[in-house]
Amino acid sequence: MLGAVLTIGILFSSACREEEMTPCSIQDKRLVDGVDFYCGNVVDLNRMGANLDYARIVNTQFNSVTAENIMKPAFLHPSENLFHWTEADQLADYCASHSKRLHGHTLIWHQQLPPWMLNFRGDQTAWENMMREHIFQIVNHFKGKVSSWDVVNEAFNDDGTLRNSIWKKNLGSSYLEKAFQYAHEADPAAKLFYNDYSLVINPVKRKAVLSFLNSLKAKGVPIDGIGLQMHLFNGFPENVEISNAIDEVWKNDYLVHISELDISINPFSQALDKAPQEELVRQAEKYLYIFKTYDRIHASYKFGITIWGVGDRDSWIRYFYNRADFPLLFDDNYQPKRAYCKLIADL
Ligand code: G3I
Repeated sequence: MLGAVLTIGILFSSACREEEMTPCSIQDKRLVDGVDFYCGNVVDLNRMGANLDYARIVNTQFNSVTAENIMKPAFLHPSENLFHWTEADQLADYCASHSKRLHGHTLIWHQQLPPWMLNFRGDQTAWENMMREHIFQIVNHFKGKVSSWDVVNEAFNDDGTLRNSIWKKNLGSSYLEKAFQYAHEADPAAKLFYNDYSLVINPVKRKAVLSFLNSLKAKGVPIDGIGLQMHLFNGFPENVEISNAIDEVWKNDYLVHISELDISINPFSQALDKAPQEELVRQAEKYLYIFKTYDRIHASYKFGITIWGVGDRDSWIRYFYNRADFPLLFDDNYQPKRAYCKLIADL
């Protein structure tokens, strides 16, 4: 009986210590030092100006940057004859002065389009000219500053068919190859990506995307890589599905960009006021698995891993799903979480 009480006591006190432990400090090491590929994040210069901890994390831990919203069509191209460069230029200047790679996201999508584009009327030639002008002006403006682009984002449905976006409706399926060609004309040095979600959990969609892109590449369309977004959950998908997807992409001769990584711990929207310790432990293991699995592919296929948000409070998941969630490497106060510390310790 006494033994049982003692055991419970020891377990309880070590659980308390676990919970209170500050796992590590960002001053000790840098995430980018542990790997030989680019580690990126989405960066918001307003947040950076408002919070020193946010700024320190971005400055020290990451060497690649993606704009979360300000390089999407609605922001960069608000009217047919007007481009709005200010914020994106500031981000490009920040990247240039801090030796960070800037990845452009995204030229052609069905979301975050300006109203004029959604309401555009014209025949196929007019649509082609409009799309060409949109892509050409943007890629040309950032030539030499943006090293790569998500040229087309989320063009496929879950069943592997092409999404019936305004681009597909007005230009047919050939809009994809045209988009890549226009981007390549504007900046032949930029690496060009197709980016999508569910490519890990849904092999039907992944195979359809690969087969479609392979048929374009066979015709000489300049597609360099595939962005696997990877908005994942602690328990889902299984690790083996993640490694299968990564392997399938590079074996088809595409650069692999894990382009929007986050790991949700609250998929069923439970009422949580903080992240449960056991979920943070699982999350740390999942992040480490992904980094290690990615690291073992050949260097020539590694474009990098981009995390989709700095601190948990910045995550799109909270406002999009209106739920408590803790999917990122840093907490609401920009302190390192277990996942960050595990990457630093074990990579
Ligand atoms: O800019 C307006 C602001 O003027 C307005 O006051 C405010 C009120 O809601 O909305 C602001 O726009 C929001 C925008 O983010 C900028 O903050 C939109 O409502 C909001 O819907 C938008 O969400 C973005 C979402 O894409 C749009 O679909 C997220 O921040 C962004 O993280 C998310 O990123 C996408 C990737 O681009 C593609 N893959 C999926 C990923 C997650 O959904």
